[in-house]
Amino acid sequence: MRKNIVAGNWKMNKNLAEGLELAKAVEQSLQNTKVNCEVIIGTPFIHLATVAQTIDTSVLKVSAQNCADKVSGAYTGEVSAAMVASTGASHVILGHSERRAYYHETYDILKEKVLLALENNLTPIFCIGEVKEEREANKQNEVVKAQLEGSVFNLSAEDFSKIVLAYEPVWAIGTGLTATPQQAQEIHAYIRSLIAEKYGNEIAENTTILYGGSCKPSNAKELFANPDVDGGLIGGAALKAEDFMGIVTAF
Ligand code: PGA
Repeated sequence: MRKNIVAGNWKMNKNLAEGLELAKAVEQSLQNTKVNCEVIIGTPFIHLATVAQTIDTSVLKVSAQNCADKVSGAYTGEVSAAMVASTGASHVILGHSERRAYYHETYDILKEKVLLALENNLTPIFCIGEVKEEREANKQNEVVKAQLEGSVFNLSAEDFSKIVLAYEPVWAIGTGLTATPQQAQEIHAYIRSLIAEKYGNEIAENTTILYGGSCKPSNAKELFANPDVDGGLIGGAALKAEDFMGIVTAF
């Protein structure tokens, strides 16, 4: 059976003290609440080691939001997958639309990042999704297919079964516009059909596909009720423990 997951993506928010406080608040709530999903927080790099050493990572897992596409060496400013893993983080968000758009991450760069993450026993949370113009031209299926083929369909079946996918329509990220539950279900089912075609039904059925884009406590239940929506990748609403927990408890 596939896992339900709610993962926070803090993006470039919170200094170290604020981040530690938020992580502890979420951990505390999780200790006191029965939840039906795995819970992850995606913090900036600088928080990873402190957060992972402070909280109980069997209750709340820790993710990076990026890693380098190189193993090690003279790449000033970069952070490798091995370094991320050495902090106690277990996951890494890769292919976020902001990384693709602002930092020019191509299919090939992302392919390398995914491979390095897996080599270092990190679980990639791999993001795909179309921009507004592509949705308006009804090209969303084509776009997500190309993104999967470009960066993760090269993986062996064994490796592919270790990754988590996140469908995030770019027009819904941080805009307050959410995909309707029907739109989410439709494309999640399509993504799962592509996985089935490539890797077979069993792997497709076991792949966790998260929805991301203006997911909040008020719409999470409706989104997660769909058979092919296995949780969420949460930006803005992950910055307050109460809002984030409102989504976590939607399962
Ligand atoms: P949002 O961001 O929840 O603020 O729309 C989601 C994301 O970018 O992962």
